Amino acid sequence: MISSVIMPEDSSHKSTMVTCTAPVNIAVIKYWGKRDEDLILPVNSSLSVTLHQDQLKTTTTVACCRDFVEDRLWLNGKEEDINQPRLQSCLREIRRLARKRRSDKDSAVDVSGLSYKVHICSNNNFPTAAGLASSAAGYACLVYTLARLFGVEGELSCVARQGSGSACRSMYGGFVQWKMGEREDGKDSLADQVEPETHWPELRVLVLVVSAERKPVGSTSGMQTSVETSSLLKYRADSVVPGRMDEMTSAIRRKDFAAFAELTMKDSNQFHATCLDTYPPIFYLNDVSRRVINLVHRYNRHYGETRVAYTFDAGPNAVIYTLQDHVSEFVQVVCHFFPMESNGQFLKGLPVASTTVSEELKNAIGMEPLSNGISYIISTKAGPGPRDEEDPSLHLLDSDGLPKKTV
Ligand code: DP6
Repeated sequence: MISSVIMPEDSSHKSTMVTCTAPVNIAVIKYWGKRDEDLILPVNSSLSVTLHQDQLKTTTTVACCRDFVEDRLWLNGKEEDINQPRLQSCLREIRRLARKRRSDKDSAVDVSGLSYKVHICSNNNFPTAAGLASSAAGYACLVYTLARLFGVEGELSCVARQGSGSACRSMYGGFVQWKMGEREDGKDSLADQVEPETHWPELRVLVLVVSAERKPVGSTSGMQTSVETSSLLKYRADSVVPGRMDEMTSAIRRKDFAAFAELTMKDSNQFHATCLDTYPPIFYLNDVSRRVINLVHRYNRHYGETRVAYTFDAGPNAVIYTLQDHVSEFVQVVCHFFPMESNGQFLKGLPVASTTVSEELKNAIGMEPLSNGISYIISTKAGPGPRDEEDPSLHLLDSDGLPKKTV
């Protein structure tokens, strides 16, 4: 997007503005634990599915102008502190790469724009209260948008990683691995695409948003305590994850759902076992989460095959992976066992055909229904990586570089 790159003629009082979007990702092999807190280097590799931006995305506008007196940041309509160290790392790193690129490529190019202050405005298309991890999409979007503004191309996952570890995986669409790397400077701790989003079109994702009473321990401090106290974490990182990364990659390449699903569930369970092995223990799953786990196992057992998988991050929400053919029945099963207040909006996202659940299946599952344990379901699928938003009417900042009133 050459028009957005700061060129000499931009050295006016006009602001230069770029808007981009980035996706959420959900790990099937979990990242948990850092070997370097500042550079955000993990103790194990991880692998995730990038979710479609039609349902879940962050939009970020970055403007820069010689008249701006300080860097400023607005998140979901509220001004926030720009001096957070991780945000500063990303800004510093992109500016460094931009300078490097210009001095490598064309020493005659004006770099004055790089010293201008920036205004950053970022919004999610999903409620923050839903408790869905927004830092991955948020930092991926920030880094991608800053790179566009300053004309930086090439590998950016190692910059996004310094905002939030899981953000490096949101820099690509489809199926993405984050290789932990070995170097102390982190230069080899990068994300790359295993397969694009078009590889497995039958794969579908259901986010079951669980009604939670309070905010759990954040992942940054949670994983720090796990590294300090859990011996299971070390065993997992050294002896379990390397083999699982290979098995998972192969299951995805072969589109072997049963293998993919079983590994996904086992890895989620081991991550939560590591949390329980942490001292003091960390509880991310609640009663509803555990009921979802039971429901999935009973459903699969009834059919004598693995049709549905669950995974949970640092909170009680369940993310379900399944295949297109089973989506409508499984949604109906969830609605039967977790009846939701019928304001008509319990199902968001991709349309799901209605179907009936047989008495035989209900009896085989044999659980007592629990009202309002799940607030709503978002139905989605794998999707592409960050994108440029070409339509200028979608900028989140006005021509003065302040958040638009309507946003
Ligand atoms: C459970 O990326 O949020 O979602 O690097 O400290 O920002 P920081 O942590 P973060 O951790 C994500 C943990 C997880 C598992 C995963 O996404 O792999």
